[in-house]
Amino acid sequence: MESVVSAWEKYKLVKRTRKITVGNEKGGVGKTSIIRLIPFILSEWGFRCLIVDKDIQSNTTKSLYVTRSLYHKEEVTIFKKTFMKGIADGDLADLPVNVKENLDFIPSSFDLGSFPTFLSKKFGLVDKFDPNYASVTKEKYEFFKSMIDEISKDYDFVFFDTPPTNSDYTEAAAYASDYILIAFQTQSDSLDGAKNYVEQTLTPLVEKLGAEIEVMGILPNQVTKKGSIDNEVISDAKRIFGEDNMFQNIIPYSKAIQNIPRNGITREGYWNSKLFSEIFEPITEEFLTRISELEAE
Ligand SMILES: Nc1ncnc2c1ncn2[C@@H]1O[C@H](COP(=O)(O)OP(=O)(O)O)[C@@H](O)[C@H]1O
Ligand SMILES: [Mg+2]
Repeated sequence: MESVVSAWEKYKLVKRTRKITVGNEKGGVGKTSIIRLIPFILSEWGFRCLIVDKDIQSNTTKSLYVTRSLYHKEEVTIFKKTFMKGIADGDLADLPVNVKENLDFIPSSFDLGSFPTFLSKKFGLVDKFDPNYASVTKEKYEFFKSMIDEISKDYDFVFFDTPPTNSDYTEAAAYASDYILIAFQTQSDSLDGAKNYVEQTLTPLVEKLGAEIEVMGILPNQVTKKGSIDNEVISDAKRIFGEDNMFQNIIPYSKAIQNIPRNGITREGYWNSKLFSEIFEPITEEFLTRISELEAE
């Protein structure tokens, strides 16, 4: 394990908090799988990480509880409050749950379904045609962002897992972020999902709401075993997003990824150890290098 100082130095990163949303308008493309592995590896390298689960499906939350049980004997029995209650109180301080050294998460909660309604009640109900749309929506997302910024001070990286929708969940997360990592599956129409995500979620946030976000990379994922990575889809993606925006590493088909919900995130076992050393450690290195290069520009 590297010391924190050397990890910051190795990747030429100025020491500060960075917030990242993993997004795509399509489901089943690997968002949650990425969120399980990159922060876990960063935490091993000495970076303090927080994962915020904004997806009511709670896939990240469930697997992090399983992972937590590998490190903690006692279960989390007393919940101070749910994610939604924290948002309503304007204070998320009590929410992070520890998984292991350097890795915490904010669990998704059943009542997070009322997040859009809560924002509308507090700041006003506006649709995209309303003349006040931009100002009201900016207020909503600033409210969420300032709460996140308050707890982010304790972390080096904050990751948001998001549902596959164009909604307050995905928009508020992206608005609160510095960087967007787009997950993208080569074997399906998720290229459209990635394109829609950029055009319908990210671009309006930047242009209408003044969000200060940057796409830090598009990470191709081959979810199915059949067929090699579809080179045609990859070259389409390069043409659409620009070659520089594509990760050079890809996620190949991996059964070990599919076992995480059941077994938790662990290096134990031959295939898990290969998943770390051959796939996700190089991806995490590229993740840090890409950020460092963007910030050097
Ligand atoms: N590279 C991969 N190889 C094999 N299975 C994968 C891979 N990436 C994702 N999966 C599986 O595909 C499903 C969807 O992945 P997930 O990360 O949950 O996507 P999303 O969060 O975008 O909906 C999960 O069952 C996951 O285990
Ligand atoms: Mg998911």
